[in-house]
Amino acid sequence: MRADTLEEQSLGPIKNPVEMLGYNNDEQGIMANIVERLRLIPEYVTLFEQAFGVTEAVSSENIVKAIATFERKITSPNTRFDRFLSGEQSIFTQQEIIGLNKFIDGGCARCHLGPMLSDNILHLGEAIIGTDIVRTPSLRNISYTAPYMHDGSRARLTDAIADYENRGDLDVTIGEDDFADIEAFLQTVNTDDFYKGIPTIVPSGLTVGGNIN
Ligand code: HEC
Repeated sequence: MRADTLEEQSLGPIKNPVEMLGYNNDEQGIMANIVERLRLIPEYVTLFEQAFGVTEAVSSENIVKAIATFERKITSPNTRFDRFLSGEQSIFTQQEIIGLNKFIDGGCARCHLGPMLSDNILHLGEAIIGTDIVRTPSLRNISYTAPYMHDGSRARLTDAIADYENRGDLDVTIGEDDFADIEAFLQTVNTDDFYKGIPTIVPSGLTVGGNIN
């Protein structure tokens, strides 16, 4: 909850030592440093000029705008869950309906609710690991966003669901028999209809990481 806008948020990781900054860079000077580095890559100079319609377009402000604009394209419209909600009830399999009911009856939907399946608020002590205060994450496109939890400590979706086993604060006890049904329901909140391309090379020449397929 450190930032109010996507633009502001995109500065967060850049300035945070445990995310991207590291301990050998200075938080105050890092954006100027990045601007300087990007200006040395001709491909970025051209792409920024084209995108923003001015010369010398590589600036700290435009970098965060570019990142935020990219992020706004990562959406999950028309999932089977959305279609179910808008009345196509027969679209769910029996197991998905059972999973949805367990999700509601179990109390998951107390926090994971609404279009984003999140109440968007901070929960003190709800962090599975440690004592951090974390905001309920959206469960949209959940199959593509492993590893799970704020620290990425759960590799598979089943592991994330299993964290709720026998938790006293839920409305009913979630046990091993329920994981597969809940997972089946959560799969309905995925869409294949979003940008999943990972470029093989990027203008900086740095190694491209990530795996969302
Ligand atoms: C009291 C609020 C609350 C309830 C109830 C709740 N959750 Fe969560 N859920 C959270 C919070 C907060 C996190 C983030 C925890 C973390 O990052 O350590 C989370 C994380 C998750 C994640 C991982 C998401 C990710 O992207 O890393 C899954 C999956 C999940 N919950 C499913 C469920 C299921 C299934 C239930 C019911 C059995 C449930 N939740 C009940 C608040 C809740």
